[in-house]
Amino acid sequence: MKIFSALFVAFMIAIACAARGPVVVAQAPEPAPAGNLAQVMKSIPYPSSNVIFDTQDWDPATNEAGEFAMTAGPRRGYDGAYGGWEAVENAALAIAEFTNVLMLPGRECSNGQPAPVDAADWPGFVQDLRVAALATYEAAQTRGADEMLGAADALVTACGNCHDQYRDVGGPANRCMQ
Ligand code: HEC
Repeated sequence: MKIFSALFVAFMIAIACAARGPVVVAQAPEPAPAGNLAQVMKSIPYPSSNVIFDTQDWDPATNEAGEFAMTAGPRRGYDGAYGGWEAVENAALAIAEFTNVLMLPGRECSNGQPAPVDAADWPGFVQDLRVAALATYEAAQTRGADEMLGAADALVTACGNCHDQYRDVGGPANRCMQ
């Protein structure tokens, strides 16, 4: 027993010494943009909103487990390990989380203009999107087609209000102008 204890202590000391090694202090990653605004729009809210809009034509509950595995396009979002209504819920949450991304400073638009995160009306557009996305999450939890219709409508409006102001403004060069 004593031998065992001694061995154990030696073992623990060895581990403690090994653990000391060179000290590497992990740098906490600062929030930082990776793509321009158009790129992150195409990578996060665009595919997610397609999954949400598709519930108007297809019941996610019947599209699980590979029925549409060969189909290109948004219905693929219903397939796979996290498919069905869970995919719709998660798409809504992706858009809600995306509203944090929309407030990050330092991003550019596709025309080189700074993304207008400092503009007076920007936070309101972002907040409207967050509210609409969270309402869509709740609608998805009801599994109701009518609930999804109303939620999708509010979502389109929230996207569109900001696009009217900063995207669809007479050519790429005019985008993101404050
Ligand atoms: C707060 C403002 C704002 C909101 C809210 C917003 N967008 Fe955008 N979106 C923009 C701007 C500005 C651009 C142009 C960015 C650029 O050119 O770099 C853009 C570009 C896009 C693009 C790229 C297409 C193109 O012509 O460049 C897609 C796709 C897109 N948005 C989808 C969406 C969807 C879907 C939603 C809602 C779920 C949404 N956006 C909500 C501001 C917004």
